[in-house]
Amino acid sequence: MLRQEQNDLLTQTGAGTPMGRLFRSNWLPALLASELPENECPPVRVKLLSERLLAWRDTQGRYSLIDEFCAHRGTSLWVGRNEEDGLRCPYHGWKYDWSGQCIDVPSEPPESGFCQKIKLKSYPLVKRGDVLWTYMGPPDKQPPLPEWEFATVPPEQTYISKRLQECNWLQALEGGIDSSHTSWLHRGELEIDPLHRGSKGNQYNLGDARPHFEVVESPGGLLIGARRNAESGKYYWRITQWIMPCVTMIAPRADHPAGGHFWIPIDDENCWVWNWDYHAVRPLTRDEVVAMENGAGRHVIYEQGGWRAHNNKDNDYLIDRAAQKAGITYSGIAGFAMQDSGIQELMGPIVDRTKENLVSTDNGIIMARHRLMRAAKALVEHGEIPPGVDPAHQRVRAAAIVLPADAVYKDAAREELKVRPGLSHARV
Ligand code: FES
Ligand SMILES: [Fe+2]
Repeated sequence: MLRQEQNDLLTQTGAGTPMGRLFRSNWLPALLASELPENECPPVRVKLLSERLLAWRDTQGRYSLIDEFCAHRGTSLWVGRNEEDGLRCPYHGWKYDWSGQCIDVPSEPPESGFCQKIKLKSYPLVKRGDVLWTYMGPPDKQPPLPEWEFATVPPEQTYISKRLQECNWLQALEGGIDSSHTSWLHRGELEIDPLHRGSKGNQYNLGDARPHFEVVESPGGLLIGARRNAESGKYYWRITQWIMPCVTMIAPRADHPAGGHFWIPIDDENCWVWNWDYHAVRPLTRDEVVAMENGAGRHVIYEQGGWRAHNNKDNDYLIDRAAQKAGITYSGIAGFAMQDSGIQELMGPIVDRTKENLVSTDNGIIMARHRLMRAAKALVEHGEIPPGVDPAHQRVRAAAIVLPADAVYKDAAREELKVRPGLSHARV
């Protein structure tokens, strides 16, 4: 349970808010590289952390992320003409370069120098992997580029998608931290989904619905260890990584790709859920990629012309009560991603955390909230760089591993919890 002011602090990420400042300490995924496929292609509207921005790519291929609105009288530059190294507002012809600098005001004589005084807000936009990343914080505090393993392996080993989720970022993240729900919400999915089935770990998951959780701090966030019974007195551990503020990594099953998420605020009532899958040592197979494109695993099938899932709150997630009753799906909603999304959106746009009743399996969530609040306070009051910004905090992995009964998982799996180039994830 949180006090109202704590819930507000954690859920509000607009400019100037403490959590907004914490998010603005990091490189964040802004859009898929495929959304700006060529030079002079149409611009794309991007709303992040409650700021309305416009992404575009100029004649020379330079990526740009600027204020969406023209500095003259404020129309959306989304209708802009992308021409000759600049974006021209079609209302009265003002033109901007990739840095947001105004370079032409046709109604004013060039010698007046008027346009040099006009510059739009702009943020860096950099391609790494299949993602265009931005950093929206103070320029003098810009950290090194992100080093998430999924974005640095060869392109044939990785796949990423995003979807719109119509609720606050924190309740979406909390679903990623709370791995106890897998035994319930997703129980029908583990042996059906092509990116999860056939794993020994599934049997451990389904055979022990009362996992024991041990949550410990890591340099970048938390390790969330879920322990279930295995054979001969051993334990099956699923170790999730949370890296601050908004990344979760999930241990793979069998030889399936390993995945994870970013939970990125669009505004306080909507977020982007980014879903990646990669294999550290082999290309993804054609079947795996087709499954992902068809909405398996962490991915979804989209409504036409956007990033919203085909089954969404307007059609009640196509809930199938007969499948629910028959135990085919536990919730009646089909697919991992939409089970999570549906459950979380149905809490309302910002869940009221003053009314919850937490239990021991919520320890990860409790610790994550406190770490976020502590880091936001340290940033605002002392300018301390938050955990997760340092690329060393990003070079980590989730792990699924069977350990002896007396093993301390964070020590026994120390090597498996790091990126080990050339070596696969620890997986069961
Ligand atoms: S509003 Fe853009 S040029 Fe006038
Ligand atoms: Fe889930």
